[in-house]
Amino acid sequence: MNRRRRVYEGKAKILYEGPEPGTLVQHFKDDATAFNNKKHDRIEGKGVLNNRISEYIFERLNEIGVPTHFMKRLNMREQLIREVEIIPLEVVIRNVAAGSLSKRLGLEEGTTLPRSIVEFYYKADELDDPMVSEEHITAFGWASPPELDDIMSLALRINDFLTGLFLGVGIRLVDFKIEFGRLWEGDQMRIVLADEISPDCCRLWDIDTQDKLDKDRFRRDMGGLVEAYQEVARRLGLHTENPTPGRSGPVLVQSK
Ligand code: C5P
Repeated sequence: MNRRRRVYEGKAKILYEGPEPGTLVQHFKDDATAFNNKKHDRIEGKGVLNNRISEYIFERLNEIGVPTHFMKRLNMREQLIREVEIIPLEVVIRNVAAGSLSKRLGLEEGTTLPRSIVEFYYKADELDDPMVSEEHITAFGWASPPELDDIMSLALRINDFLTGLFLGVGIRLVDFKIEFGRLWEGDQMRIVLADEISPDCCRLWDIDTQDKLDKDRFRRDMGGLVEAYQEVARRLGLHTENPTPGRSGPVLVQSK
């Protein structure tokens, strides 16, 4: 794995050339950034936790037939993914008012929304990822109308599934951000879920205490970020201290 070609480096992840054509290795760093990199720190252990949590979520989504770029976890910090053409949109799904929505519309944080709301932001650091409408997306060709239909229906399906998954472990899925890509198989193209789903890009509140178990702990200088991510992993039944890939749960101990 030495001397791999670095294809892309983002704020929290690096993409390396994969072992086969059409694959990449996604490496999770410990860097934490917020407010478009204006706030930056390194939080030891964050990358390992995000790799594990994202693996778990993508595997569950693959199981229910949501197409994703995820193939398998390789080690504590890396996963093998399919190379996709990233659609330059951040898709945010909200169930409860918080963050920028609360600020923009003057809604009290924690207010349940009348229905789930999907928002689009154009991925452009130099513009601070501005919010855009479907009109902008199709007019500027970032995605076609049928691609946007796929993105919308996948986003809502992912939201329904994750809301239930987290509710089952006492966590309220307030909102989250996802990204999609085009996966080419011959001359066929499919829209698939890409990037990651981890507490870095979700708002996760404990159902009983409303404790924040996500990156708002970093954005709002609350401390205890790794402990919060560990708690999410623990509730999902993941043994993060165990570097062996695979699902956790009861382990059959075989006698020699
Ligand atoms: O800040 P805002 O309220 O718009 O964020 C909505 C959701 O999208 C939050 O869960 C946040 O973690 C996520 N997000 C993200 N990356 C961004 C912007 C928002 O993961 N660049």
